[in-house]
Amino acid sequence: MDRNAFCGRRDFLLAGAAAALLALGGRAARAQGSANPLKIGVIGSGHIGGTVGSLWVKAGHPVLFSSRHPEELKELVGGLGSLARAGTPAEAASFGDVIFLAVPYGALPQIGHDLGPAMSGKVVLLPANAVAGRDGAALASEAQSKGLGVAAAGYLPGVRLVRAFNTFSYRILQKDAHRPEGLIAIPLAGDDQGALKVASDLVRDAGFEPVVVGPLSRSGEFSMGTPMYGQEITAPEFRQKFNIPQ
Ligand SMILES: NC(=O)c1ccc[n+]([C@@H]2O[C@H](COP(=O)([O-])OP(=O)(O)OC[C@H]3O[C@@H](n4cnc5c(N)ncnc54)[C@H](OP(=O)(O)O)[C@@H]3O)[C@@H](O)[C@H]2O)c1
Repeated sequence: MDRNAFCGRRDFLLAGAAAALLALGGRAARAQGSANPLKIGVIGSGHIGGTVGSLWVKAGHPVLFSSRHPEELKELVGGLGSLARAGTPAEAASFGDVIFLAVPYGALPQIGHDLGPAMSGKVVLLPANAVAGRDGAALASEAQSKGLGVAAAGYLPGVRLVRAFNTFSYRILQKDAHRPEGLIAIPLAGDDQGALKVASDLVRDAGFEPVVVGPLSRSGEFSMGTPMYGQEITAPEFRQKFNIPQ
């Protein structure tokens, strides 16, 4: 691995996370202390994992950010205060009541194999998109044909999977969390109603408004390249535009 490139990405994320937290402070974020703090394990603390995990810390949730090189997360967690800590992916899988699985889609078979038992029965939020160039043509093609949520569930048996946070760049999530002129809609899909409720609460705590599109079999409706992808509109606007009942 090019360690300089790695550190450069981390620095970029740190700057963005700090900017997001400053912006939040200025906008009176909804939750400085969540009514229902949940232990969250973030697996993959890169752009999206670092960003959304930071928003949850700000909302009062204890978050374990993980990396295969946890020593490189010291600066990130150091800037977030006592609710944030760093560890390995295995530690995150065991720590979290909820797991944010923010890794490249191509890593799912290995993570399901290695960490599946530790995540079994837990709510797992999956922001992954499948890209052939990064994740491999075979996996991308399977995600396309089965639908990413259904295909991913095959690699993560026993978890309570919810597809979430896949439709926006982390930059938009940093910039527009708790948007004063109207919270942006985040589409969700899952088969477990309890898991969808947990995911919906966490979407609100991060500063957005959840819209449950339907079961995992409908998660392809907001995959990359679909009309629902990247819609920076409020939940009522999203429901009306795509005919999704309350
Ligand atoms: N970037 C965005 O704006 C965005 C938006 C929506 C959805 N997504 C999706 O979110 C996922 C992550 O994207 P990203 O941009 O955040 O990527 P990223 O910045 O490269 O971060 C991904 C992290 O995953 C970890 N990782 C990779 N392989 C792993 C493995 N086998 N086991 C454990 N950890 C592993 C790496 O952590 P270590 O090397 O530190 O272990 C890396 O920091 C992708 O599926 C992407 O499609 C991204």
